[in-house]
Amino acid sequence: MEMKTVEMDSRDATIALGQKIGQQLAAGDVLVLDGDLGAGKTTFTKGLAKGLEIPDIIKSPTFTIIHEYHDGRLPLYHMDAYRLENGGAEDLGLEEYFDSDGVSVVEWAEFVADELPADFLAIHFRRTDDESKRVLEFEPHGDHFDQLVSTVVG
Ligand SMILES: Nc1ncnc2c1ncn2[C@@H]1O[C@H](COP(=O)(O)OP(=O)(O)OP(=O)(O)O)[C@@H](O)[C@H]1O
Ligand SMILES: [Mg+2]
Repeated sequence: MEMKTVEMDSRDATIALGQKIGQQLAAGDVLVLDGDLGAGKTTFTKGLAKGLEIPDIIKSPTFTIIHEYHDGRLPLYHMDAYRLENGGAEDLGLEEYFDSDGVSVVEWAEFVADELPADFLAIHFRRTDDESKRVLEFEPHGDHFDQLVSTVVG
């Protein structure tokens, strides 16, 4: 596993990187995103959806926990585990999503840590002193994501 860190100078840059990664994703891929409020997790997911050719607008799933999109190249399951900080992740049936032929993206992934499969891509988002910049740290688990990160992030 090799960590890669990149600096995103704008919202558009974060969307563009998400799009590039979305183009490379395969059925069953699991991505877990963490970082503070407003760090850019949903923004990145919007780009990812673009890369999956999903025409819908991606909205934050905070109140519903899971949003499903079926109109792209692969299904996208977008989850926000923020409200699971006091537990409850085991009741969501996440395994079914993770084992499916769609792509699963989880924001606030620390609250579903016990449910994760062996292979996944963790991305850590950090705000900076510059309000328009974000630092993204890629932590791939498994060969597939090792390769994807070196292809896309360099
Ligand atoms: N370089 C950047 N990359 C991503 N977003 C940026 C960047 N610079 C500014 N922003 C802004 O920061 C905000 C990021 O919000 P976003 O909803 O993506 O965060 P989040 O991590 O999903 O937050 P939450 O934990 O509340 O779900 C947006 O308003 C976006 O326009
Ligand atoms: Mg969000």
